[in-house]
Amino acid sequence: MKYIFETAQLGNLVLRNRMIRSATWEGLADEVGHMPEQLYQVYKRLAKGGVGAIITGFTSVASDDHYFGGMARISADMLIKEHQRLVGICHDENTPVMAQLALGEYNGSQQRNMDIDELTAADIGKVIELFVAAAQRAAMAGYDGVQLHAAHHFFLSRFISPACNHRQDEYGGDAVGRGKLLLDILRGIKAAAPRLHVTTKINCNDFMAGGLRPEDSLVICQMLANAGIEAIEVSGNGTSVAGIRAGVNEAYFKDFALTLADTVNIPVILVGGHRSIENMEQILNEGKIEFLSLSRPLVREPNLPLRWQNGDTSPAKCVSCNMCYQTPGHECVFRLKGID
Ligand SMILES: Cc1cc2nc3c(=O)[nH]c(=O)nc-3n(C[C@H](O)[C@H](O)[C@H](O)COP(=O)(O)O)c2cc1C
Repeated sequence: MKYIFETAQLGNLVLRNRMIRSATWEGLADEVGHMPEQLYQVYKRLAKGGVGAIITGFTSVASDDHYFGGMARISADMLIKEHQRLVGICHDENTPVMAQLALGEYNGSQQRNMDIDELTAADIGKVIELFVAAAQRAAMAGYDGVQLHAAHHFFLSRFISPACNHRQDEYGGDAVGRGKLLLDILRGIKAAAPRLHVTTKINCNDFMAGGLRPEDSLVICQMLANAGIEAIEVSGNGTSVAGIRAGVNEAYFKDFALTLADTVNIPVILVGGHRSIENMEQILNEGKIEFLSLSRPLVREPNLPLRWQNGDTSPAKCVSCNMCYQTPGHECVFRLKGID
């Protein structure tokens, strides 16, 4: 029997419970990647709220990546100190923290959002270097790990998708070819920063014509597991489904995560639509899924884990309205209006 509130091993990390804060873009950093005070407060609230581990909002590995406004960055050494402070805030509460490393668009040849098919071998080498250098900075800042963002149509997600990658070389073709870039990045990070826990967030399905299918995602996950990735977080396009209700339509990527957990020998983390402790514990005991990650419920209630642990186990208050995508600092509209 697995419980939410028990210590559990996530690769080389020990978590106080099985709840993880899934990456949530705050939209607060400036163009260079400097992080304002408000952003540190987000992490302070989360860490004090009792979650088992925190994955930061997407953090660009490149300084010329302008995919989304307010992206944090870990693309230059001068930013390490600011990340050190964020890590310190989490560690003060004994909460492990991982930086989500992302590339939104790729500007390698001054072209915005460059076509995957047009990338030269040198361009691909540059992408690998960007991720490895970012991971080294993450290690210097004291992060416990890094997560490669290969979901939600970000660059790595597009690269593994047959809808975007029609390359004929070793980085294209079948799932093994399309997954090679992720594999090369993983190997690069393992060589350069061996202490780091390395995980990935990956689409189980692109849910679009000609996109990544579950069979292909499974092959890529298996490759990464064989190459030593420590955990895999399962997501998909259409990532933040609206109108989730406890006991009705929770955990919308569960089926794939159960299959994946039977296939690989590493912890599988499932994100998307967890709103009740009953459902979450049922999922943990339905198969081999080890951890559950949440985003919007922790925007609404950063102290949700403590609330549940202290005995108030009513469902998460998040109504999945998705207004947090639009508010300043991606705060919850209810919290902004002072509604408890
Ligand atoms: C405001 C907001 C920002 C998000 N930013 C990220 C992000 O930076 N990286 C990421 O992988 N997913 C991001 N997501 C997706 C969430 O991590 C999560 O996968 C999705 O919302 C489903 O989980 P939930 O039902 O617990 O919210 C974001 C979601 C929201 C609502």
